[in-house]
Amino acid sequence: MPKKTFYITTPIYYPSDKLHIGHAYCTTVADTLARYKRLAGHDVFFLTGSDEHGQKIQRKAQENGVSPQEYVDRIVASFRHLWEKMSVSYDDFIRTSEPRHHEVVQTIFQKIYDQGDIYKAAYEGWYCTPCETFWLERQLGEGNCCPDCGRPVELLKEESYFFRMSKYQDRLLAHIEANPDFIQPTSRRNEMINFIKGGLEDLCVSRTTFDWGITVPFDTKHVVYVWFDALTNYITAAGFLHDRGKFSQYWPADIHLVGKEIVRFHSIIWPIILMALGVELPKMVYGHGWLVMEGDKMSKSKGNVIDPLVLIDEFGADAIRYFLLREIMLGNDGNFSRGALINRINADLANDLGNLLHRTVNMVGRFNGGVVFAPAEREPVDDELAKLAQTTAAAYEQAMERLEINAALKEVWALIGRANKYIDETGPWALAKDPAKKGRLNTVLYNLAEVLRIVAVLISPFMPNTTPRIWRQLGLAGDPAAATLDDAQRWGALPAGTKMTAPEALFPRIEEKEEAAEMDEATKKEPEAAPAQPMTPVLPEVSIEEFAKMDFRTARVLACEKVEKADKLLKLTVDIGGEVRTIISGIAMHYAPEDLVGKDVVMIVNLKPAKIRGIESKGMVLAAVGGEKLALVTAPGMPPGFKVR
Ligand code: ME8
Ligand code: MG
Repeated sequence: MPKKTFYITTPIYYPSDKLHIGHAYCTTVADTLARYKRLAGHDVFFLTGSDEHGQKIQRKAQENGVSPQEYVDRIVASFRHLWEKMSVSYDDFIRTSEPRHHEVVQTIFQKIYDQGDIYKAAYEGWYCTPCETFWLERQLGEGNCCPDCGRPVELLKEESYFFRMSKYQDRLLAHIEANPDFIQPTSRRNEMINFIKGGLEDLCVSRTTFDWGITVPFDTKHVVYVWFDALTNYITAAGFLHDRGKFSQYWPADIHLVGKEIVRFHSIIWPIILMALGVELPKMVYGHGWLVMEGDKMSKSKGNVIDPLVLIDEFGADAIRYFLLREIMLGNDGNFSRGALINRINADLANDLGNLLHRTVNMVGRFNGGVVFAPAEREPVDDELAKLAQTTAAAYEQAMERLEINAALKEVWALIGRANKYIDETGPWALAKDPAKKGRLNTVLYNLAEVLRIVAVLISPFMPNTTPRIWRQLGLAGDPAAATLDDAQRWGALPAGTKMTAPEALFPRIEEKEEAAEMDEATKKEPEAAPAQPMTPVLPEVSIEEFAKMDFRTARVLACEKVEKADKLLKLTVDIGGEVRTIISGIAMHYAPEDLVGKDVVMIVNLKPAKIRGIESKGMVLAAVGGEKLALVTAPGMPPGFKVR
């Protein structure tokens, strides 16, 4: 039977800056899914790469006094270096400056033009170069700023080619509605449905004011719009033009994993390009959340980036991979902090996993000369452990298939925790003192080694460098890279007579005191002394029924702008869990609009609407207020629409 195939992609990254740990998050997740599918026996094609064209890159190259090609070559080399350090097992790395990609983009641009879905017209409108995105006047924020990143947009006036997106609007909507998995998670799916229902405009797909891009084949003054060019990478690499056998094997892609701010490009522009070409749509576009620091998206322009290479040098790639995969629920934002990273390393890796391995290898060495003998006398506690190992492997598989990668890790750590407790319950050191208990001792030590073998297989997609280290200490034969998910689901597969090697610490503990102190100085502000605020009198009692009438819930800020001629007011567009609303809030003295986009706030949604400056405000965000101070109440990482009570 031919193997099932699995095609997964990351976005192709802009070589305009160094990559930070937020970029590494996306690639780590994709790598883990790719490795998991290989473990489960699939024929995997895992693609990443670089998005090298466009005005932004051309300008950066100019600023650096080099040609665009020289500029991107240098940065792309640093991408590959980082992925190697992170143990990213991509099968292909596509660069949009490669000839294979130019040919595909020119071929499809020509085809779509020939069939009348691309036409020429005059473009006059707004462009955000950092985001490489066109905006309508009405979509802009205060002071003509990009509603996504808050930076100033530029007025463009040029003759351009347009892609007839509007023609495909209804077909796209029908596809999204008929295929619940097409856009995931559901909150993003709802955002996209609302966006499309708002009406799609035809898209400007060529530019004439710079030349660092792919030439429009029938009109060489023009280069193809960088997003049209970039999205096409997914079919170039799959062999659309150059290897039809490969293409029919891997296309449609199983998952395009992307950050939440570019779901729109992947679930609207990209499917419409494919529809125009008559090519099947990808099975899923998954929008993951952002890595944030103290609630702010990590990004170069905010100056709060963490260099992954520095972290890898300090803690090792596997520890960082583990942290990112364990700490963040896929789809939600996740907070990065050095303290949390160190806590995870110490508690989960050094303590739980490291101790289980160390104690086991140590006892087998001391009591049995390093040999794992066949199990002999069994007790109920052994069956319980064996059963848990098997249900763990099954629950892990189910979680991974649902893309709940942190849940899969939790299952594995529950087994590790149980095995550590099993040592305390069975007391091998006492058994070792009594020759009559030899059979019992052998059973206990065998079971511990067997749990560790299974754990080593299950964690291999997450921590690919740790598995071989466990394997070696356990003395297992064969290449752990050849292990399969089946191996993890077969209790008792460890051969009796296996000879272990000397124990070696997997993850040394990080000394917390110094670290915590360092971190406090470097990143934390001194906590302010409690203000001498007289206590506000407590209001008369309300019943729980009265309280329950108020619909408090989480909401996500989708867009935000200042209200004209009102210093204190911001206009927020919020998703309250399937419905998008406009509200006016008097917080402009405390928050800049771009600080709020993406924030998960708390709102009352059934407050009687009010008209403020001619704008209807439906609901209110909650904030702590006192004197000059104000802080929004937030629920970081909670999807919109969750009850707050
Ligand atoms: O958007 N946390 O490239 P890009 C999590 N070239 N993910 C983050 C992040 C953070 N703090 N910061 C960035 C582009 N990312 C286009 C893609 S695909 C055909 C073209 C993620 O280099 C971001 O969400 O700006 C995006 O998915 C990816 O890094 C690439 O960002
Ligand atoms: Mg970006």
